[in-house]
Amino acid sequence: MTMSNTKKLFIKTWGCQMNVYDSRKMADVLAPMGYKQVDGPEGADMIILNTCHIREKATDKVFSELGRLKKFKDEGQAEGRKTIMAVAGCVAQAEGDFIAERAPYVDMVFGPQTYGTLPEMVAQATGAYGKDRVINTEFDEEDKFDKLPEETLATGPTAFLAVQEGCDKFCTFCVVPYTRGAEYSRRVEAIIDEVKQLRDQGVREISFLGQNVNAFHGINAKGETQSLADLMLLAAEIDGIERIRYTTSHPRDMEQDLIDAHAHTKIMPYLHLPVQSGSNKILKAMNRKHERDMYFDIIERFRKVRPDIAISGDFIVGFPGETDQDFEDTMDLVRQVNYSSAYSFKYSQRPGTPAATMGGLIREDIKDERLQRLQALLADQMRAFNEQTIGMDLSVLFDGTPREGQLHGRTPYNQAVHVTGNSRLNGQIETVRITGTNGKSLTGDLILYEAAA
Ligand code: SAH
Ligand code: SF4
Ligand code: F3S
Repeated sequence: MTMSNTKKLFIKTWGCQMNVYDSRKMADVLAPMGYKQVDGPEGADMIILNTCHIREKATDKVFSELGRLKKFKDEGQAEGRKTIMAVAGCVAQAEGDFIAERAPYVDMVFGPQTYGTLPEMVAQATGAYGKDRVINTEFDEEDKFDKLPEETLATGPTAFLAVQEGCDKFCTFCVVPYTRGAEYSRRVEAIIDEVKQLRDQGVREISFLGQNVNAFHGINAKGETQSLADLMLLAAEIDGIERIRYTTSHPRDMEQDLIDAHAHTKIMPYLHLPVQSGSNKILKAMNRKHERDMYFDIIERFRKVRPDIAISGDFIVGFPGETDQDFEDTMDLVRQVNYSSAYSFKYSQRPGTPAATMGGLIREDIKDERLQRLQALLADQMRAFNEQTIGMDLSVLFDGTPREGQLHGRTPYNQAVHVTGNSRLNGQIETVRITGTNGKSLTGDLILYEAAA
């Protein structure tokens, strides 16, 4: 179905990189129907909220945003135009019926596994089949990715590419296994084709995405199972692709071949490896299925291959039953690992997860205090990591021009860098001598006409 008049599509995205990726794919699926993405809801023909369910108040946030956006639908109606309002993503998956019931003006509610069928859903929502409401939270048996278009328009020199989706780990605090379903890996050739297409559009850096990306076990054309390391080394052979990253990994799926792959210069010296807690008791209650020593062992093995590797992580404070000592164990783990960056959160009770019914809830003020202490320590480590790169010549991939004559980029260690330079250099990799840091990001000077470090 192709329509000549363009329609305005506004997508608002919350949550993880996978959601960002999915939003792009939804725009791709809708493009042949005449939908063109716009930056705001004014005059939109379709509004999609791509939602995240990971922490508290997720559903409230969706309702308040719907309430705010409803006026654009009403305005459209007054002008004789239908604005399709849609809720997608993990809240739609988890609370689809509730949203449909409480917000009768919402035309479509659909979960992450259904995006390939958007054309049919939109046809239904516009009344093509007589009824005009779509509620679709099926877990499709078929490959979601097979129904999504492979070509994606690159939006810059770095591209995220989903290779694995879903999770079978069932950490007791987490909704992802319920909203994203079972672990699934894409076929190797389909991924490599997409990498080549992105390369042809000027992409220099690929980030392989998955909820448990190192659980990747894709099948190749010969029927062989390939690991994430195999996939990254294949991508590294593609001319023009200079940098490869991956996120997010789980300690339980960490195989030696992935660690060894970090010897390759195209595989960036950066690892995001969430641990959540440094207490064995809490790790057990979280069902993480590993102890702190296993985490230390993995980090040590990475550092053997890449002594300079930057380590990032995720933490939860105030999990039910977390004592002062358990929290001190987390602080101790952080001190031993020495992170370059990290995300940390207060435990948030999620309905339907095993932890939601556990006793030993931690008081909010205690959670606040623990989070503050942890974040202060992590901020110190980030500053120290950044300071340690002052004076170094690092290769930087420029991915933006915040202002004329200003460039933004990333070092191999995933540090943000600001330099003064011609915006022509956007999309290129150049050597930058690091001159300073504000603790969070770096400043530096371009060193042109020299080989990258
Ligand atoms: N698959 C990744 C994480 C996905 S969710 C992993 O296994 O590590 C991203 C992060 O959100 C988690 O690492 C965790 O730190 C945080 N998170 C998930 N559920 C949470 C909850 N109920 N409360 C607080 N933080 C949570
Ligand atoms: Fe959630 Fe745990 Fe799966 Fe990560 S590994 S997505 S935290 S259940
Ligand atoms: Fe959120 Fe769903 Fe991602 S719950 S973190 S958008 S997988």
